[in-house]
Amino acid sequence: MKLNEVREKYLKFFKASPRDHKEIKPAPLILSDDPTTLFTSSGMQPLVPYLLGEKHPMGKRLVNSQPSFRTVDIEEVGDNRHTTFFEMLGNWSLGDYFKKDQFAWFFEFLTSEIGLSKEKLWISVFEGSKQVPRDTESSEIWKSLGIPESHIGYYGAEKNWWSRNGTPDEMPVGDIGGPDSEVFYDFGEDLKIHENSIYAKQKCHMNCNCGRFLEIGNSVFMQYKKVGEGKLEELPNKNVDFGGGLLRIAAAAIESPDVFNTNVFKSAIEVIEKHTGKFYFENENKAPMRIIADHLRGAAFILASGVEPSNKLQGYIARRLIRRAVYKLKVLGFEIGDGTISAFIKSYADEYDEIKNNWLQIKDSLNIEAVKFGKALAKGEKKLRKFMEKGTLSAEEIFDLYQTEGFPIELTLEIAVSENIKVSDSVEAEISKQFKSHKDKSKTTSAGVFKGGLVDKSEDTVRLHTATHLLQAVLREVLGNHVIQRGQNINSQRSRFDFTHDKKLTEAELEKVESLINEIIKKDLSVNKLEMKKSDAEKTGAIQAFGEKYGDSVIIHYVGETLKSAFSKEFCGGPHVSRTSDIGRVKIIKQEKIGASTLRVYLSKSK
Ligand code: ALA
Repeated sequence: MKLNEVREKYLKFFKASPRDHKEIKPAPLILSDDPTTLFTSSGMQPLVPYLLGEKHPMGKRLVNSQPSFRTVDIEEVGDNRHTTFFEMLGNWSLGDYFKKDQFAWFFEFLTSEIGLSKEKLWISVFEGSKQVPRDTESSEIWKSLGIPESHIGYYGAEKNWWSRNGTPDEMPVGDIGGPDSEVFYDFGEDLKIHENSIYAKQKCHMNCNCGRFLEIGNSVFMQYKKVGEGKLEELPNKNVDFGGGLLRIAAAAIESPDVFNTNVFKSAIEVIEKHTGKFYFENENKAPMRIIADHLRGAAFILASGVEPSNKLQGYIARRLIRRAVYKLKVLGFEIGDGTISAFIKSYADEYDEIKNNWLQIKDSLNIEAVKFGKALAKGEKKLRKFMEKGTLSAEEIFDLYQTEGFPIELTLEIAVSENIKVSDSVEAEISKQFKSHKDKSKTTSAGVFKGGLVDKSEDTVRLHTATHLLQAVLREVLGNHVIQRGQNINSQRSRFDFTHDKKLTEAELEKVESLINEIIKKDLSVNKLEMKKSDAEKTGAIQAFGEKYGDSVIIHYVGETLKSAFSKEFCGGPHVSRTSDIGRVKIIKQEKIGASTLRVYLSKSK
């Protein structure tokens, strides 16, 4: 079964009666409205306001297939199942159906639509914690569907709790999460996957890393919001947030524990075989070929989003993927000539519209980066080999390769480790120090850009920063309290502010917002800063930045003579003007709808 077929079947199944889901447009891979992450990494990310209780315009049952990217998995690629880019099949109940329907429908989809045998399904459920009960309810439902007790296992929060930030302890205040139940496909003992793996000495179970079991879907019961250290509060609704791996379900459908045997990757690997003259079935070629196939697909999707390979943010990830792929090609005996690398992603253009529609731009960016690195690789590798002759590598040497030859640090370390060159822990620590100071200097780090969203601390940037606090307060007044900042980026020319709202502002609303901000500016209110305990700050009603983790002591800024009468209150430690009149007149220069529920407005100085 091909990926396209699995995707179509899934969407059709959940849209059909009695499931009656509405298909929502997937979010872009790069969410311009969420500065806390580089990429969309799960289908629920754009739905957070609705999981928190806001009404979704399309109803309570939603479905889609969401292109996602997980940078944390870059190092994992090479085994039989990890990829950086992936499509997540998602269905959601916003306070509508719950465990019983969710399991019954997913089970029916897997067994009737995809044709998986129910004997091969294994299920994990949450074992419970001090605050959240053991999920015997899920276990009972699975049993009623015909899953034997021996195929159901209880695990702790590390495995069976899902939030964007991990376990309840790792969740920042304000984050949502819940217990989950994962479905695994068992490729069976006959293939001797466990026995032949490095985990052979341990007992195999569904969460074992050997590759015998493949997690194919996860039903999260989004029921909780973290409200304080060790404190979870029930959300107004009991929600379902389901995520299934399209590629993995397709692999189970063809009985292949190796996701690189599914149609999309199979074609890509054939091209790699053709150009390198090496075969995938030979074990030593598997990992490099998987890395090349995965990384070039991931890079192509990033480039398709309009990002160029660079030293920062998503551009850095694209560069890292391309360079690692170029290196692995070299390992397989293929040197990048002029412009040949796009041949390796041609098959993806047939499969994905995103790649087909942006082909010319992707092809050019990819080729330029690959050729450039191909040359640097030849030169840098000579230098690296020279450094490695003594059997060790120092932090300065690794950093020198990074700075002067463009050798990604991870790549140098990867080569060193694979050749048994000694790199001590302290050397790593030293690299991160050098890396940090380099990044701080170049001001291109995500931290630099993301710290409160201010690109610099010039007077004009600071003025616009305070104006942005006013903007948020005014938007809440005019549009309602659902308005919450999702991201901001401020430089001396303009402030870009993203917030939750599902449609563009009307002319009248725009005028009202602009004139209210200017009124407050004219009133010459004082801008005040207070440091206090986080719990006290929460009581003041000050708005917290989306996804931010705060310590016990926080700073809030408020605009107005007293905290109580303040017009605007926000958790924020950034620089501000001292009186609103210091801002000067401002105007809204543009608005854009950048997601189903996110609007972006640009604010600048007005003459
Ligand atoms: N949001 C859940 C996940 O990403 C479904 O696994």
